[in-house]
Amino acid sequence: MTTSIKASVLLGLTAPFFASALATPRTPPCKRATKLEWGPCNIETQGLPVTCAKLAVPLDYTDKSSNQTLELDLIKYPAQNGPSKGTILLNFGGPGQDGLNSMISYAPIQSAGTGNTLRFACFEPETLGATFAQGLPDASDVSPGRVWAEASILAKTCGETQKTNGGLVGMAFTVRDMIQIVDALGEDGLRYWGISGGTALGATVAAMFPDRVDKIILDGVMNSHEYYHSSGEPEMLSSSDATFEAFLEACFEEQEKCPLARQFDSAEALKEGLATFFEDLKYNPIPLYPPAPIPPFVIDYSILNQLVLSTLYRPGQYQNLSIALTGLLQGDGAPAVDIFLSPDAPSIPQEAEAILGIRCGDKIPRASSLVELDPIEEQFHETSKWFPGFGRGWYVYACAQWPFEAKERYEGDFHVKTKNPILFIGNTYDPITPLRSAQNMSSGFEGSVVLQHNGFGHLSLTQPSKCTNEIIQNFFDNGELPKPGTVCEPDLPLFANDPKV
Ligand SMILES: *[C@@H]1O[C@H](CO)[C@@H](O)[C@H](O)[C@H]1NC(C)=O
Ligand SMILES: *[C@@H]1O[C@H](CO)[C@@H](O)[C@H](O)[C@H]1NC(C)=O
Ligand SMILES: *[C@@H]1O[C@H](CO)[C@@H](O)[C@H](O)[C@H]1NC(C)=O
Repeated sequence: MTTSIKASVLLGLTAPFFASALATPRTPPCKRATKLEWGPCNIETQGLPVTCAKLAVPLDYTDKSSNQTLELDLIKYPAQNGPSKGTILLNFGGPGQDGLNSMISYAPIQSAGTGNTLRFACFEPETLGATFAQGLPDASDVSPGRVWAEASILAKTCGETQKTNGGLVGMAFTVRDMIQIVDALGEDGLRYWGISGGTALGATVAAMFPDRVDKIILDGVMNSHEYYHSSGEPEMLSSSDATFEAFLEACFEEQEKCPLARQFDSAEALKEGLATFFEDLKYNPIPLYPPAPIPPFVIDYSILNQLVLSTLYRPGQYQNLSIALTGLLQGDGAPAVDIFLSPDAPSIPQEAEAILGIRCGDKIPRASSLVELDPIEEQFHETSKWFPGFGRGWYVYACAQWPFEAKERYEGDFHVKTKNPILFIGNTYDPITPLRSAQNMSSGFEGSVVLQHNGFGHLSLTQPSKCTNEIIQNFFDNGELPKPGTVCEPDLPLFANDPKV
């Protein structure tokens, strides 16, 4: 997105859970930093005009007798047009994304850069964690038990290695960190732009500190009720099928650019062909031979299913998705290798275990065996025919067995009147944060409005719209909300060859 938020400062927030390099909690002089000192950043900033500062905040807000602190890394992108009207905090979701590096990655599109704080990595070497619970429970009849057992390894290992920090990561503490930042900035209220997992943080800060809310935008909204109270979060998949099928239909309309359609007579036949292919892949996975140093591997149902859904996050990759699927349907894995393993495939830093650390500690329910999850398994299957397994083994099974709890949780019902109303944004076809969740959360926040961005992908930023950008800009400039029911169209249709993300 090319909008520059007029006269504002964008600030990447690195909350405790934005783990990357180790920052040992240290005990500085007791006096709390009241003024931030901005200076050069010691990370690769890709030439952006960013500055960085540190802020010491309490390490454990529930332990009043302790003076231990945690140093937050803050990164600031200065206002580009004239005098600053204040600071906007950003959070990049996950939850648990590395804030500093995410800010750098997103800067070109969101006009913003990133951090290093409380480390949350469970395995040595770190990459070992990614070898557990990656398969989907639906891959075969013996998969659920295996994934459950692997998720036990994740939960138990994180429990052992993260004993000290495990309870300190979570939304509620991060909310308190945000308020410390607002206080240190000496500003009159909280301005915050939360995307994806950052929307659960935004809903939580607004519910815990409604009187501090100046302007909050939440884009790509999660259902925060489910985040805290459900073992899984099936609503996140409630638009996944619609997104995939709308992509296939759009593909059929644009056969020039979308080769997948050329093998079929109708969009319906294409859907059936792919459903058969996905099912067949369970029994006949395809060996792939990437160029060295990437070792050969087998693309199976679990891998392809997750690749497809996560590629649906990025409309700029839809044409490539179609090319990769076309090859695979013909038994040719080469295009899939090129596309899915391409070094220039856009990627945002992922902090996998930090995501588990925050999400699982924040979740209230636990289960002692897989059978207890039957009801939630059923909900996933009722919600999505194409992607019922997405995230299920990895976070649902791991969180169900998670060995510690966040020291503080927001336990309210998200029914609040904030000092100033919140703007929610939801895409018509967001594969992972459906419009429905934006509507659900908005219903609790008095005076809030949902803007429907009539596009594809995860977050409104991925299929840009001047209309959406102007509304975001007006909201941050003068608090103006769009009329309820406003729908914004993306500037370009799918497959228009203007991939942003
Ligand atoms: C922090 O607390 C410890 C023990 O309670 C105390 O010995 C120490 O002096 C305190 N540090 C500061 C900087 O106040
Ligand atoms: C599609 O994939 C190719 C091969 O990996 C890559 O070079 C190209 O940049 C991708 N296209 C887009 C729009 O990202
Ligand atoms: C919002 O979602 C929660 C969790 O699924 C549900 O219990 C609640 O009824 C929903 N609220 C509305 C207004 O849809």
